[in-house]
Amino acid sequence: MNIAILGFGTVGTGVYKIIKKANRQTKDLHVKYILIRKNKPETMPEMTDNIDQIVKDDSVDVVVEVIGGIEPAHQYILSALRHKKSVITANKAVIAKYMDEFTNVARENNAKFYFESSVGGGIPWIQGLERALRIDDVDKIQGIFNGTSNYILDRMKKDKKSFDEVLLNAQQLGYAEADPSADIDGYDVANKLCISADIAYNTFISPDDNLPVFGIRNISYEDLVAFGKKNLTVKLLGKSDFHDGKFDYAVEPTLCAATSMEANTPDNFNLISLHGNTVGDLKFMGQGAGQLPTANAVIQDILDILQNKAHLERDFNSGFEYVPNLMKSDYVVRSEMDIRNIFAEYQVEMHGDYFEIKDVPTGEMHQLMAIVLKQDGQAFMASYPKEAREVDSDESSEVRWEFSR
Ligand SMILES: NC(=O)c1ccc[n+]([C@@H]2O[C@H](COP(=O)([O-])OP(=O)(O)OC[C@H]3O[C@@H](n4cnc5c(N)ncnc54)[C@H](OP(=O)(O)O)[C@@H]3O)[C@@H](O)[C@H]2O)c1
Repeated sequence: MNIAILGFGTVGTGVYKIIKKANRQTKDLHVKYILIRKNKPETMPEMTDNIDQIVKDDSVDVVVEVIGGIEPAHQYILSALRHKKSVITANKAVIAKYMDEFTNVARENNAKFYFESSVGGGIPWIQGLERALRIDDVDKIQGIFNGTSNYILDRMKKDKKSFDEVLLNAQQLGYAEADPSADIDGYDVANKLCISADIAYNTFISPDDNLPVFGIRNISYEDLVAFGKKNLTVKLLGKSDFHDGKFDYAVEPTLCAATSMEANTPDNFNLISLHGNTVGDLKFMGQGAGQLPTANAVIQDILDILQNKAHLERDFNSGFEYVPNLMKSDYVVRSEMDIRNIFAEYQVEMHGDYFEIKDVPTGEMHQLMAIVLKQDGQAFMASYPKEAREVDSDESSEVRWEFSR
């Protein structure tokens, strides 16, 4: 099987390395082309800067897109599919935006479009979700989808350091990008949750749909201490619930019981869960990024094509509807201003520097929090679900939210 790799960075190099190692399963894979940028020297015989040479070569079976970003990745994927090549990509940003278009063009051209590595890196999450859907309705998806933000929260707590100190350290170690906003502001999680929801509900939801997304940029070490006194750990979660043909969606910091698997997911690991009506709860944990885990998932997709293992078909015609206020939760907000008038419709308790707001629909909470942020740019919020509260010990529930600068 002849493969073209578009983009020879972290993941592209990993795909090449694993194929070159050639074990029993991968020995029939052959890298024919590596696409590099126009101004770069061609240092290997497989390298070319000509995308047309790749897509017009009838001997190429599979195109692996690991350039990243929206354009030209979007056009290159479409061009490869229209030339009847199967496409595998790790690029969550472009998939989340164009999943419906890629799926349709692949079907029209009798080509495959697979993307296991785009959500959860090396974790077989898409495969697990698709398997669950063969039998079940999946009515809950929840997870730690972003390793960088998990690493930051974990190191802040363990090393007793501020957000800025840990972020700088993560950037120096290469765990966080120079522009960290996709990771810390929740947009990377949003892309991965859109892809998961598209599959779970067979309907297309785009990250451009103004979805409720709140990141961890404003968290302080003192917040972690205050939550810790209540046996709680904060994690950045992507979540989606489904009932009666309607589904909801949110990315938000969430308080988790200290004994939960989420709270105990360390470093840059991911933990993604689903609930199906017969299988119950399934949790998938592992390396959500990194050169070889991500390349491993890319090659699993290539082998599925080689071995004719079909993935779930979808037409995005389920008619299921995105309803922003389906999920409800209590929330904890830290703000220097008195926010009770903004939340006048809800029961609000004040505990030191924290407000606890009861039973707020998620979409509404994010809209009201946007008003808070306009007046207090450092305010922080976390959802406080009842599962986390139920395991509060009697003793710890006496501890009040308190932290005064
Ligand atoms: N890294 C991970 O752990 C990971 C995990 C899961 C998913 N992903 C996804 O995988 C994709 C690739 O990530 P990565 O970490 O491998 O990125 P990367 O290290 O930045 O590699 C991208 C490569 O593509 C090249 N490139 C950019 N535009 C190009 C163009 N127009 N033509 C030819 N080559 C071009 C870049 O060249 P220059 O160096 O010259 O810019 C670079 O070598 C992204 O979508 C990312 O979100 C990555």
